[in-house]
Amino acid sequence: MKNIFIIAVLCFTNVVFAQPTKLQSKTDADAKALEPKLIELRRHFHQTPELSNREFKTSAKIVEHLKSLGLEVQYPVAKTGVVALLKGGKPGPVVALRADMDALPITERNGLPFASKAVTDFGGQQTGVMHACGHDAHMAILLIAAEILTKHKAELKGTVKFIFQPAEEGAPADEWPGGAELMVKEGVLENPKVDAIFGLHVQSLLPSGQIAYRSGGLMASVDGVDIKVKGKGAHGATPWDSVDPIVVAAQIVQGLQTIVSRQTELTKAGAVITIGSMHAGVRRNIIPETATLEGTIRAFDDAMQKKIHEKIKVTAEKIAESAGATADVKILTMYPATVNHEGLTNKMVPSLVRAAGQQNVVVTQPVTMAEDFSFYQRKVPGFFFFLGAYPAQMNLTSQPTHHTADFMLDEAAMITGVKALVNLTLDYMESAKK
Ligand code: NI
Repeated sequence: MKNIFIIAVLCFTNVVFAQPTKLQSKTDADAKALEPKLIELRRHFHQTPELSNREFKTSAKIVEHLKSLGLEVQYPVAKTGVVALLKGGKPGPVVALRADMDALPITERNGLPFASKAVTDFGGQQTGVMHACGHDAHMAILLIAAEILTKHKAELKGTVKFIFQPAEEGAPADEWPGGAELMVKEGVLENPKVDAIFGLHVQSLLPSGQIAYRSGGLMASVDGVDIKVKGKGAHGATPWDSVDPIVVAAQIVQGLQTIVSRQTELTKAGAVITIGSMHAGVRRNIIPETATLEGTIRAFDDAMQKKIHEKIKVTAEKIAESAGATADVKILTMYPATVNHEGLTNKMVPSLVRAAGQQNVVVTQPVTMAEDFSFYQRKVPGFFFFLGAYPAQMNLTSQPTHHTADFMLDEAAMITGVKALVNLTLDYMESAKK
């Protein structure tokens, strides 16, 4: 998530603050007491990173921890996922809390004493494996939240479903769909039916311990587009004998730029079309037969997303047709936009304030990265937020971003994540009674 994080300080005038209940004071103390274990767990996961749908050691550790708490554990779910159920002593709603589990094919370079030494084969290449997005912290936070909530089981007014989800970064191509989409297909939100779901993502460009949230569209949808232009080859000296696919592909790239800039109502929501790959030809004096383009599409609004898909198809096809070529357009649907349920978000902000302190809760602008938490939000009200974790000793402008070999996070931020998830659960249960 390297995009610029522009943040506005929240105006709290219409937010009512509830005082922490006795139970919340106890859970805050538990979080403090369990902080060394929280850090130990995060370091354990950091040293044993595994790629999407290969989280075997990771899930074994999670299962072991959850079973030690006496929870009902289900494994495997959606290939390598783990789900645990905590039934409280009192009746109430079902709250789901989700953490993602996978690491990335990156060789760690940050010099941490517990840096990953793992290596693997990825797409035929030897590579290091690294938790370079902070999912190691997410798992540790959720395990400790589970431990705290379990301790107070008798006082809990409802049920908690802990969801440890694999493959957030994307399942291998031949194992699609994976991650959240597959978990939902396998019924993770049923039996018992989930009433609300919460999740967080650490954010290395946000001050440590700060929480940034947004009601409505928080993160963009992501889809891929593949375009194959077919023309006619010829000698480079006689272009009139050809239908030059390189020129057609270049015109298509230009044409696609006008979809967002000229044909999309940008005051409603932002959108992005990026062509990141363009391939054609082998030699300077041969006009090839074909050219291929690959791109990524981001949007925050479903209707806009659909319209962009249609416009891409018609723009590419008609430009090709005008030159006597053809364009075969394939849209690869990936993750929908992460849209926070407005009623739920507004209701839960005081829980975040209680966890992080009023001055540390801010509203963020939408970001054009994507998250498959969106699949849960399509089925049940969901709320996803960012937990700031850039190390205080580092300069914000030089802090390495997510998905890089130098990525680092501040472990001191994790306790705020634990408190946030615990408070969200307790407050949601309390509010559901009324
Ligand atoms: Ni991530």
